[in-house]
Amino acid sequence: MSTHQPPSQSLHDPRDKRLPVIAPPCGLVIFGITGDLARKKLVPALYDLSNRGLLHPSFSLTGFARRDWGSQDFEDFIRDSVKKNARTDWDENTWEQFSAGLRFVAGSFDDSESFDQLAQTVKELDHTRGTGGNHAFYLAIPPAAFPKVVSQLVRSGLNDEWGEDRFRRVIVEKPFGHDLESAKELSNLLHGVFSEKDTFRIDHYLGKETVQNILAMRFSNIMFEPLLNSNYVDHVQITMAEEIGIGTRAGYYDGIGQARDVMQNHLLQLLALTAMEEPVTFGASDVHVEKEKVLSALRLPKDLESASAIGQYTAGYQGGEHVRGYLEEDNIDQNSRTETFAALKLFVDTRRWAGVPFYLRTGKRLGKRVTEIAIVFKRAAHIPFDKESTEELGNNALVIRVQPFEGVTIRFGSKVPGVGMRVRDVTMDFGYGHAFTEDSPEAYERLLLDALAGDSPLFPNQREVELSWQTLDPVLKYWGQTGGPQPYRPGTWGPESAEQMMAHDGRTWRIP
Ligand code: BG6
Repeated sequence: MSTHQPPSQSLHDPRDKRLPVIAPPCGLVIFGITGDLARKKLVPALYDLSNRGLLHPSFSLTGFARRDWGSQDFEDFIRDSVKKNARTDWDENTWEQFSAGLRFVAGSFDDSESFDQLAQTVKELDHTRGTGGNHAFYLAIPPAAFPKVVSQLVRSGLNDEWGEDRFRRVIVEKPFGHDLESAKELSNLLHGVFSEKDTFRIDHYLGKETVQNILAMRFSNIMFEPLLNSNYVDHVQITMAEEIGIGTRAGYYDGIGQARDVMQNHLLQLLALTAMEEPVTFGASDVHVEKEKVLSALRLPKDLESASAIGQYTAGYQGGEHVRGYLEEDNIDQNSRTETFAALKLFVDTRRWAGVPFYLRTGKRLGKRVTEIAIVFKRAAHIPFDKESTEELGNNALVIRVQPFEGVTIRFGSKVPGVGMRVRDVTMDFGYGHAFTEDSPEAYERLLLDALAGDSPLFPNQREVELSWQTLDPVLKYWGQTGGPQPYRPGTWGPESAEQMMAHDGRTWRIP
């Protein structure tokens, strides 16, 4: 999806397409290094990049946390995280190089001395490791802590670029605010210190190979694009379903809910990629322009009662195992009205998509873990077979399977073998696992590499974030004023109201 135009420090000549992009000399500081995200995703992804030869030998990782750790403790922690979670094999040579760049600074976000020490550490890395004055700061911490960290970065001079052609970048994780207003506040805070081009917002769905393939499939082929418009498409269903409950994430999730957690970002980004026009190039600004157009053309139906649904999982059985209801999960408020399921109908008011509903649904403790985009076509205007022959023929569909079983399915009608003419639905499948021998990199590998290389088409920009909230805010407000989420049993596809929402339009949800 990206053409990769790395900055001047990069080792890579952008005209040479044979070589992969390699991050320039640089260091990364992770705030929140002891958290789940860093341990399970970020650190292993960095090791994997290093193992694939995509990080510069000078690459250095500095952890900042409130732990009474020496450098050996930190190294042990990182080794353990890599051994447990890395995608690629353990390699002593990679580890030797990677571990030589590990640094740890102990401190809290209030502690100015620790930040001074961090500034010292970062400076030393330039001399001892050759990080070239290039440093990125990953805020893998709750947004409430951002203001403190950002002001400490400024106070300690860590955000100063110390010269031309050197970078200081900030990488932030969603949630990017909890509504439009707070998203703007967050942006003001970050933009007070880092420019938009140096601000990288991670939406890990955009780092998934299958999500990037939406654009490859649409814009590198001739056979799909002519059909993707209101002449042929009946509707689009975007599903992101999970089997898991909220586990130990009550502190983050309760009061936030499924719509803020994944609809505002992952689902609306999937919608934008599915509906956008062809960008002039795959450079960041051209991709952003097209996504912004889609997001600004989103329209909510007037009657949100019949066009949306929210639910909350109850106790029950999932895959033969008894699981707790949301309200019985640890640290959840007994009266919580937080939704663990959300569904919403939207329109994209452009000539291409006029009148085509886009249905989004997402939830925890659903039938199975699956993310897919199903483009469901209209019936042919005329079918020259009698009704009985086509009883088993549904609508043609193009399904992009984001996960698991990554690939694409085309559903169409075919003659059933035998005398007479009976037509029934069949599918034609492309699976990544069959077509390619190499494993797909993890989303965080791609995104961390792009952030360090300064390549940003895969990161939502501030305008996209704001447009998404602008769409979702009235829905959240509406849900806040209604009776709250409807219960649904684990292992099902959500509450009754989700079925009713589709029935209202004479349609049904797919069972993926
Ligand atoms: C995260 C959400 O962004 O995505 C989680 O905060 C969710 O609630 C997760 O479980 C799902 O990611 P994936 O890659 O497993 O589909």
